[in-house]
Amino acid sequence: MNEAIKNMISRKSCRKFKSEQIKDEELDIVLKAGTHAPTGMNRQSPVIIAVQDPDTVRKLSRLNASVMGGDGDPFYGAPTVVIVLADPSVRTYLEDGSLVIGNMLNAAYSIGLGSCWIHRAREVFDMPEGKALLKKWGIENELVGIGNCILGYPDGPLHDEFPRKDGYIIKV
Ligand SMILES: Cc1cc2nc3c(=O)[nH]c(=O)nc-3n(C[C@H](O)[C@H](O)[C@H](O)COP(=O)(O)O)c2cc1C
Repeated sequence: MNEAIKNMISRKSCRKFKSEQIKDEELDIVLKAGTHAPTGMNRQSPVIIAVQDPDTVRKLSRLNASVMGGDGDPFYGAPTVVIVLADPSVRTYLEDGSLVIGNMLNAAYSIGLGSCWIHRAREVFDMPEGKALLKKWGIENELVGIGNCILGYPDGPLHDEFPRKDGYIIKV
């Protein structure tokens, strides 16, 4: 089995992070992998926003938690949050954005970073506060939140492998 496949089938989500920030080179590798995900008709509908400023990470965490009516930290203390949004006028925007996050999760794992998809980006960037953040970041066009990819150094081992369900694959 080659290294790429081994990486893909051993990747796991991380939900406990060290507070130390990841290196710029590591972030850049993950972002680059995201931009190389396939997109429908190569329209490249997603936009990727990397957030490392602690105040903005906290704000995003608070908005995300509010979608669930809670006040915990849905980012599990990860120091980096990579938001993926996409242009809904492109028919494949949801698939495009999801593949970007998939690529970033696999890339992160391959270089020893902890990562996890954190949901509710759609709701957060539907809120006035979310829209205000997009404006502040210079994004004027209407984008829909697809998901967040949190990144950091894992604090402890990742969980044991979850078995794959019966009937996952059907060969006909
Ligand atoms: C669309 C999607 C949404 C997810 N949302 C969350 C989330 O909000 N919080 C979280 O802790 N994990 C979230 N996850 C991670 C899944 O829970 C995780 O991938 C799943 O339990 C399998 O574990 P693994 O990634 O370690 O293989 C999400 C994953 C996907 C694909």
